[in-house]
Amino acid sequence: MPTAEERALLGRLQPEHWREHAEQRGLAGTLTGRPKLTESGIVCAVRLDGQWTATKLRSAEDHVRALLGARTSLRIQTKAGKRGGWAELTIRTRSAADGDDLLWSPERRSLGVDTVTGDQVTVPLGERLLIAGRSGAGKSVASRPLLFDASEGPANALVIIDLKRVEGRLWDHRARVASTPEEVIAVVDELEAEMHDRLDVLPKGQDTWTPSPDRPRITVVVDEGAEVVTAADKVPFPEVDDDGKTKVRTRSALPGLESIARMGRAAYIDLWWMTQKPTIGDGVPKQIAPQISTSICLAVRTPAEARVVLGEDAQAKGWNADELPVPGVALVRDGKRKPDPVKVRYMDKAVVIALPARTPWARHTATAGAPSITLVKDIPDTTSTPAATDPDSTDTRVLGLIRSSGQPIRQKELTEQSGLSKGTVSKVVKRLADSGHITRNADGGLIADEAA
Ligand SMILES: Nc1ncnc2c1ncn2[C@@H]1O[C@H](COP(=O)(O)OP(=O)(O)O)[C@@H](O)[C@H]1O
Ligand SMILES: [Mg+2]
Repeated sequence: MPTAEERALLGRLQPEHWREHAEQRGLAGTLTGRPKLTESGIVCAVRLDGQWTATKLRSAEDHVRALLGARTSLRIQTKAGKRGGWAELTIRTRSAADGDDLLWSPERRSLGVDTVTGDQVTVPLGERLLIAGRSGAGKSVASRPLLFDASEGPANALVIIDLKRVEGRLWDHRARVASTPEEVIAVVDELEAEMHDRLDVLPKGQDTWTPSPDRPRITVVVDEGAEVVTAADKVPFPEVDDDGKTKVRTRSALPGLESIARMGRAAYIDLWWMTQKPTIGDGVPKQIAPQISTSICLAVRTPAEARVVLGEDAQAKGWNADELPVPGVALVRDGKRKPDPVKVRYMDKAVVIALPARTPWARHTATAGAPSITLVKDIPDTTSTPAATDPDSTDTRVLGLIRSSGQPIRQKELTEQSGLSKGTVSKVVKRLADSGHITRNADGGLIADEAA
C-alpha cells in the first residue's frame, strides 16, 4: 500500500505527467516508463534521447526533484538502466529493513539488515573489529549479537574487558569478565601466555589449526577502550618474586593488548576494540589501529572521527558516519560491503541475561610447570579423593607443598606459599586430613601420609 507521499510521487512519475512538465524543468528529451513500488521505495525507468546519459541525469537531480515535488531529505538514486538509452531512478521512500522485525532472536542472529538491499548483515568471527560511535549511538547493543556468536559453541570462548562494569556484568555467566585494572592486567597476562604457547606449538610452516574445547577460539572484547587506555596504564600490581617476597610494580595492560592485536590471529585470539572516542592514541591505541580488519561505525561526532574508523578515503567514497541517525544505524566496512546503512538488531539486556551459562575461559595452569603442580604424578592413581587427582585443584597444590617441604609444615606457611586464602587452605587441609592424605602432629605441623 502506497503512503500519501508515495501516491503523489507515483502520479508525477507517470509518463503523461512527466511529458507535460519535462521541458519547463530542463529535462526535455527524457521520458519515464511506468513506476513501480518496491520494498525499498519507488523504481522507475527513464528513456533518454541522444543528448542524455544516466550520468547527466544524475547531475540534473535537482530538476528531477523539482518535477516530482520531492522533499530534500528524500534520497534519489540514478543509475544506468538495464538497456542502453535508459536510466533507472530509485526514490527511497522506504527502507528495505522496514518490513523486518528487528528484534534479535536465536533464529535471527544477524548483526542487522542492510537498509538498501534488505540483506542480512553478518560479521564472521576471526576478524579484528573496531566498533565506534558516540555515547548512546548503540555500540553496546550492536555488539551483543556478535558477543553471542563469540560465546556460543564448545570451541569458542569470550573474554570481556569492561572497566565501566555495565556491559560485562550482563555476560559474566558466559564470559570471563575483567572489570578492575588489576583483573585486566591479570587476564591480559594469561591471554598473552596462552598466545605464545599456541604460537610455539604451531607446526612449522602451518599457520592455521582448528580450535577445540581445550584450545578454543578466544574473542577478547574491550568495551570503552579509551577508559582502558587511561585506567589500565600504570596500575600498581603486586607480584611474588623468586625469593617469595611480594613487590609492587607498576604495570600497563596496553603492551599485552597490542601484541594480541598484532599476533593473535594465528593463535585464534582475536581482539575487538570498542570506543566512543575514535581518535588515534587516546581512543584507539596507535599499535592497534592498523590491525583492524572490519569496522562497525555507528553515528560519530565529526567527519574526522569517521575517517579514523572507516579510513582516510571514507567520506569521498560516501561513508558518512557523522550523518547517521541515532541509535542503532551503522556502516560496516569490511572491504566487501558498500556504504549502505545497516539497521542493527535490538538485543535486550534481559535476553542476554537469560542466555544459557557457560564456564568462562581461564588458562590451564597445569601445563605451566609450577613446581607444586609437577608433583601431581606422585599421588597414587588409586586415591579415593577425586579432588586430589585433579591437577588444577587446590587440594593437589596444597598436598604438593606438604610433600615437598620434607618436614612438618604449618598451615600458616601453607597459606603463604600457596598464595591461597587462609579460609581455603583451612578447608583444603581438613579435606586432605579427612581423606587420609595428611596427618597433623602434636605441634600442629602437617605431614603427608606416604601410604596414601
Ligand atoms: N539497534 C538498536 N535498536 C533500538 N534501540 C537501540 C539500538 N541500539 C541502541 N538502542 C538504544 O540506545 C541506547 C544506548 O545504546 P548503547 O548500545 O548502550 O550505546 P553506546 O554503547 O554506544 O553508548 C540503548 O539503551 C537502547 O535503548
Ligand atoms: Mg556502551
